[in-house]
Amino acid sequence: MSRMSSWWRDAVIYQVYIRSFADGNGDGVGDVAGLRSRLPYLAALGVDALWLNPWYASPQVDAGYDVSDYRRLDPLFGDLDDAKALINEAHEHGLRLILDIVPNHTSDRHAWFQEALASAPGSEARARYHFRPGRGADGSEPPTDWPSIFGGPAWTRTVDADGKPGDWYLHLFAPEQPDLNWTNPQVRREFEDILRFWLDLGVDGFRIDVAHGLTKDPAFPDLASREAGGMLDAATEDHPYFDRDETLAIYEDWRRVADSYKGERVFVAEAWVADASRVARYLTPTRLHTAFNFGLLSCPWDAEALRTEIDATLGVLAAVGAPPTWVLSNHDVIRHATRYGRAQTSLADARRLYGTPVDHALGERRARAAVQLINALPGGTYVYQGEELGLPEVEDLPPAVWQDPNRRYKDHDGPVRDGCRVPLPWSGDAPPFGFSPEGAAAAPWLPQPAEWKERTAAAEEQDAASMLSHYRALLRIRREWLGRGLGDGAALEWLPEAAEGVLAFRRGEVVCYANLSKAAVELPAGYRVLIASEPVAGAMLPVDAAVWLVAE
Ligand code: NOJ
Repeated sequence: MSRMSSWWRDAVIYQVYIRSFADGNGDGVGDVAGLRSRLPYLAALGVDALWLNPWYASPQVDAGYDVSDYRRLDPLFGDLDDAKALINEAHEHGLRLILDIVPNHTSDRHAWFQEALASAPGSEARARYHFRPGRGADGSEPPTDWPSIFGGPAWTRTVDADGKPGDWYLHLFAPEQPDLNWTNPQVRREFEDILRFWLDLGVDGFRIDVAHGLTKDPAFPDLASREAGGMLDAATEDHPYFDRDETLAIYEDWRRVADSYKGERVFVAEAWVADASRVARYLTPTRLHTAFNFGLLSCPWDAEALRTEIDATLGVLAAVGAPPTWVLSNHDVIRHATRYGRAQTSLADARRLYGTPVDHALGERRARAAVQLINALPGGTYVYQGEELGLPEVEDLPPAVWQDPNRRYKDHDGPVRDGCRVPLPWSGDAPPFGFSPEGAAAAPWLPQPAEWKERTAAAEEQDAASMLSHYRALLRIRREWLGRGLGDGAALEWLPEAAEGVLAFRRGEVVCYANLSKAAVELPAGYRVLIASEPVAGAMLPVDAAVWLVAE
């Protein structure tokens, strides 16, 4: 069947958190060799593209989001030849490849920052970052009251050549992640060049880290009483460092770069902004292609909340002609199989209730329904590695193994993120569960729970009722029905007859029901089941289940 749609408008994109995906060389950390060996698994899963978390040279203070060289791979993951081989092999498997670009900040080990530290205040080298004098008589107070998202102040004081305390530099994240100054033409040129470097090698696009953070109010005002906003909290309007209008112009330049390449090379914005209407500003035809929908990810498992979010997203994105994306989990948030397994189920609830008892069966059942629901919505979807195995958040990792830089601060925003980053279980009865090769020298970089022997890809492949089997069937059927209702295109019409707590809508020939109410609901007559997240008996859809129907 030929379709007019561009690939990215309804792609299913699998997020590869590379350090935890598959370890090819036995050092306990995932790498490109491991990923290459698992491409057949990803192709069989039925996804269209991969998004790789940062693989560049990095001191790994923030798991690669502190880049010291944007044109090299970190030796932990491989080298440029491995990268080229991966790009080609992914394409041979029909998988597109999206890299993660980190433009808001570099590593403090980046040559530019090292040069800046060694240069005098007011120098050209320092103008690539935000260096400012401190406040107070002796400059010992930070230039603004901005907090770092990982805790502590967003400013660190430097030491001058004579050993005396000097200017401060800005870091919205860890002190090892100094913010770049995007009003500096050198910074803008350099990043366009980095985009070209990877586009020339054949990558299909970029996920933009902290896409809403690049420009800062040149007056550097205090936040005073306004909300800080942050990685997981929406920034409010007219914010000194998030979601500023000047950032949008940068993406117009980037779009021209991407459009100058053959094929459709695309951008997806990581923009935690106030609401869907603010997201839409990034997604006009001259700016970025798509953005993660964090609204849906933050929602509780509640029909009304989800419907409100879906409607808000569809409304504002239609106005700019951009397709929505639907996301349940990523490497920064508590996995949804865990979020949905408690009585209160929003992301904010999950952060508050971290470590409290979870009904795993309930969480998993809702997760099956949720992935079915989002894959019936217009636009594209994301799969965060391991969700296809039904992996829960590992909330009891011993503090001694935590790696997240936010662990260093008492006032940081939410729990450590290591619990959603535990290396994947592939096979076998005991750790490393096939994550590392037989006889590997090192254990996985985070310990895997013993119970994961039930959750290996190999075990789930053998079980027709597993989460993995559900994902595979779902994505196969979604592909079959693209252009006939699913994916991009067909409008979403809510069915007025749906009972309270039930999300029921039609898209072209396909009808989707998701039952978030407290009782089983009757399905309409004259339809057959394409796929259901739980067995449907006597035309009754059980609680916490979803179904796709087509006319008989
Ligand atoms: C967002 C990334 O997803 C997160 O993992 C990282 O810590 C911050 N940006 C800083 O780069």
